[in-house]
Amino acid sequence: MFSDFFKIAPKGFLGVDIGTFSIKVVEVSRAGKRRKLDNYGEIQAEALYEKPFRTFEQSTLTISRQDVVRSLNAILREARIKSRQAYFSIPDFSTFFTTFSLPAMTEEELPQAISFEAHQHIPLPLREVTLDWQIIEKGGEPGAKITPFKILLVAVPNEVIEQYQVIAQDAKLELLSLEAEVFGLARALIGEREKKETVVLIDVGARSTTINIIDQGILKISHSFDTSGNDLTNLISKGLNLDYQQAEEAKKKYGLTASEDMKTREAMLPLIDLILNEIKKISSSFSQTEKTGQKEVQKIILAGGTALMPGLAEYFFKELQKPVVVADPFANIYYPPILEKNLKAMGPNFGIALGTALRGLE
Ligand SMILES: Nc1ncnc2c1ncn2[C@@H]1O[C@H](COP(=O)(O)OP(=O)(O)OP(=O)(O)O)[C@@H](O)[C@H]1O
Ligand SMILES: [Mg+2]
Repeated sequence: MFSDFFKIAPKGFLGVDIGTFSIKVVEVSRAGKRRKLDNYGEIQAEALYEKPFRTFEQSTLTISRQDVVRSLNAILREARIKSRQAYFSIPDFSTFFTTFSLPAMTEEELPQAISFEAHQHIPLPLREVTLDWQIIEKGGEPGAKITPFKILLVAVPNEVIEQYQVIAQDAKLELLSLEAEVFGLARALIGEREKKETVVLIDVGARSTTINIIDQGILKISHSFDTSGNDLTNLISKGLNLDYQQAEEAKKKYGLTASEDMKTREAMLPLIDLILNEIKKISSSFSQTEKTGQKEVQKIILAGGTALMPGLAEYFFKELQKPVVVADPFANIYYPPILEKNLKAMGPNFGIALGTALRGLE
């Protein structure tokens, strides 16, 4: 799927999301005060190679480098993307997130305290990972110099970073930086309004699902697990005795709607409920760990390709009794009106690529 508008591509930034089953690239730039979508492109792995772009074996990430580079080049060429400055997203699955509290100290003392704590929280030797962290809560009196802190620590195996560096180099892209998918997704979907709320931001892709709690614009919890769109297709395939392609079609056509084909819905429900239970568990564990103990999730945002499933948002709404919205990452971006229908239809898939690219405009 390609688009080519704006003949002269201005200097922009690329966001590259290498998913299990598709690679998405978005190019953005600034036009005055507006953020503008210049180009986008996607290639699905199965269309070309009949195997996924990335896999996880014993929790290590393996990317089929040559296929990815070839596909990236095809997207850049077909969509006539001129920019070469790129941000890449790293799967949440291969990123290690943890939060912990630190006793009262000054901000200057944080780096040392955090690297000491990291030893106890990261299951890998620290020399094998790259660490990043942010303050998610500051205790004490407002303005006090010495306060307790709550920290979000993010660790990415160096091996994963190296894989992306090689891909960028082979695709002749200048890798500006890498970040976990959730940060791109949040940049695209957490607007002024959501920054005042407690939101569950969910990415249901082909291979993995990530559930994030974003409270007042700050990532508090991120949890990934290995159940997602492909598993739903497999369930339909087994349950209804269809081949994979037919099952995939039924999933997209009927989804969870309670109308025409209830069998598709029934086949998928055990896994849908499993995802739902994870959402409930994570939401309530968030409420419990908050100081006040009162914080409730206010809204659920669904992203990733599976968010497009007919009836999914309605089902989650019925079960969770909270507003559930399907992500529309392009809502606050300028683009030619002619693209509206397309972008609405595929928005949920492009949240990460768009948000990752938007980093260039910050
Ligand atoms: N209309 C639809 N209804 C249901 N499922 C859909 C629909 N459109 C796409 N999907 C599913 O979305 C999944 C692809 O989503 P996405 O592009 O977010 O995955 P990915 O980023 O490649 O994978 P991952 O993030 O898990 O590595 C596939 O399982 C596909 O079947
Ligand atoms: Mg994905």
